[in-house]
Amino acid sequence: MTQFVEWSAALSVGIDEIDAQHQALIDLINEVQDAVVGGLDREHQLDALGRLAEYTKIHFAVEESLMRIFGYPDYERHKAQHEGLIRSMLDLQRRLDDDRAALDDGLMRHLKHWLLDHILQSDQDYSRFFLAAGALSRHQKPSWATRMWDHLHFCGSKCWS
Ligand SMILES: [Fe+2]
Ligand SMILES: [Fe+2]
Repeated sequence: MTQFVEWSAALSVGIDEIDAQHQALIDLINEVQDAVVGGLDREHQLDALGRLAEYTKIHFAVEESLMRIFGYPDYERHKAQHEGLIRSMLDLQRRLDDDRAALDDGLMRHLKHWLLDHILQSDQDYSRFFLAAGALSRHQKPSWATRMWDHLHFCGSKCWS
């Protein structure tokens, strides 16, 4: 059966860990869509959206850490895009929680296109920079993961607020 959002080779940024995280994000969006289309109640829809929002924050923190570690010149603009989506998701969660909004086809399509456009443009841009700089081959194991972890540990929840 065709999923609401499908992974394809065109979405690959050429970095296995990031591709795996994007695939996980796609799975989580599909779970939200299944909850909406399946007519599950608000509580189940909010649960699915909550899981998507939490994983999205983790994924963005990973990308932002890598960009800082490797001195990516477009870091601020990319981070601002991430922050915009997180703000929208938190706002949507609040409005759903207060019964002031409902997840519908338009919202789901917006989410889908935001994610796909972001991967195809902004995420591909940083991966080209990393790969051209040879950054990942230098740091791939285990130092870049360790440094990323150190960064996350250092800024903790403040990275995501
Ligand atoms: Fe990104
Ligand atoms: Fe991404």
